[in-house]
Amino acid sequence: VTYGEPSRFRAGKPESLPLGTRLPLSRQRCTIVRTEGGVAAISNTCTHLGCVIQTTDIGFDCPCHGSRFAAEGTVLAGPAPRPLPWFRCSLSPSGDVEIDTAAPVDPGTFLKV
Ligand code: FES
Repeated sequence: VTYGEPSRFRAGKPESLPLGTRLPLSRQRCTIVRTEGGVAAISNTCTHLGCVIQTTDIGFDCPCHGSRFAAEGTVLAGPAPRPLPWFRCSLSPSGDVEIDTAAPVDPGTFLKV
């Protein structure tokens, strides 16, 4: 038996995520981004002490101790020690974007759509 949010979920069709999308999903604690490179999911959990960070138009801000992250999750200002993790995005058989927050991938790994 597991409790809490499932790690895998569907985030709609790729065409519902226009270029420039930065969509925070509070329950899943990640942000879906759509760039020229494709679709990606970046963690909204601060790498300092685990606070939920806020997604902005240009990056991420942590309200707890002031860490700031660039749009792709690299650290701009501490105390966060590491960049934000990226999660695996794939296409489900029905053509939906599927995200797995239990499956980290290398930053910069986009789902081509
Ligand atoms: Fe985010 Fe400390 S938990 S800066």
